[in-house]
This record gives sequence, structure tokens and C-alpha cells, in this order.
Amino acid sequence: MKLSVAIDGPAGAGKSTIAKLVGKKFNLMYINTGAMYRAVTLMAIRENINYSETQKLCQLIENLEMHFDKDKLIVNEEDVSEEIVMPNISKNVSNYSAVPEVRELLVCLQKQISEKYNVIMDGRDIGTVVLKNADFKFFLTASPEERAKRRYNELIAKNVEVDYNNILNDIIKRDYIDSHRETSPLKKAEDAVEIDSSFMNIEEVVLYISNYITKNM
Ligand code: DC
Repeated sequence: MKLSVAIDGPAGAGKSTIAKLVGKKFNLMYINTGAMYRAVTLMAIRENINYSETQKLCQLIENLEMHFDKDKLIVNEEDVSEEIVMPNISKNVSNYSAVPEVRELLVCLQKQISEKYNVIMDGRDIGTVVLKNADFKFFLTASPEERAKRRYNELIAKNVEVDYNNILNDIIKRDYIDSHRETSPLKKAEDAVEIDSSFMNIEEVVLYISNYITKNM
């Protein structure tokens, strides 16, 4: 039986950690679509391509071979997983991901993957655009302060020097750009189950989602 799960929500809500764990439980391929937008941002910055240079951006994407190898994102045979989560990419990714042509190309790739495999995908437009007919849709939120605290702890654990207030401001700015852009803005799909994880830990959210899926399968 084909199974697809969509998880959307703002930056730092815990989507990727939770999606990975739920994916393992139900044997689903985990697709981190944010990582794909981050990879495009990284490659564009390396090539000095601004987000306003649409044609160059499209050419760049057409020459990228992207695939997931377990938790790692491989782009043109290079593991970019560590580099794409660095603050410089976080700061720029909303601008690149707001470009309609960039979205069109990546959404097409995401749909192709979901046709081949049972997937759990996380992002901003999964329940509304990429997997409109997903079997299960969840919208994960948490307060900006809680999300900034989680990102801060993640980066500190990786020995990256960061400032909490900078992260909080970046999250607030990204929330704004992601939910106000013209093409597929971040919003809850009408049929998605909303979960506010501000006062829940990872295990509690995973259990909630897993029980929901099992009960409604
Ligand atoms: O989930 P994340 O923070 O790694 O996502 C990085 C950025 O990519 C985020 O600011 C918005 C964008 N994004 C998007 O527009 N659509 C998606 N499906 C996933 C991410």
C-alpha cells in the first residue's frame, strides 16, 4: 500500500527531527525539502548568482543532481549536509526559495520522488502543493522564542559560534518572508492536524503523530 505523510511548519519547529523518527517507525523515505532549497542557495552563493538572476538560477538547478543518502543530501556527488545548515545559508535561503521558477523545479523533483517511494516529506508547502493528496498532513508550530532556543542549542552543540538574538531575529524574518511570498506561502492545509510543540518534547510529538497515523490507517 502506498503511504505519504506531509509535515509543514515554520523554521525550527522540529519538523526534520520528528519526520525522521516517524519515517523510521513506518518505513518511509524521509525527504527534507528545506535541505533542497538550502542546497540551491549554497550552490548559487558559491557561483555568485543573486536570487534575482532567475535564468542563471534555473540553469544552475538543471545541472544539479540531488539525492538523499539516508540523512545526507548529496549534490553532484558532494555531501553538503553540514554546510547547508550554517547561518549564512539560513539567512539567505528564504529569498532564493521565494523565486517561483526555483520552486517549480524543486516541486517537480519532489513530486517525482513521492511517486516512486512511500515518503514522509517536511517543508512549507507539502500539504498544500507537493503532496496535496497526502494520506496524513500535520502542521507543526512552536513559539518563535522556543524555536530560536532549539536552533541555538543545535548550533552550539556543533561548536558554531552564534548569538541567540541573531537567531531569533532571523527566525522572525524568515517566518515573515515564508508566509508572505506570492508563490505557495507557508500556511496550514485545511485538512492538516495542527500540533503546537512549544510545551512538548520530541518523543511526545512523535508518539502523537504515530498514534494518529496508526489509528487512522
Ligand atoms: O526547513 P528549513 O528551515 O531548512 O527551510 C529552509 C528554507 O527553505 C525556509 O526558510 C523556507 C524554504 N522552504 C520552502 O520555501 N519550501 C519548502 N517546502 C521547504 C523549505
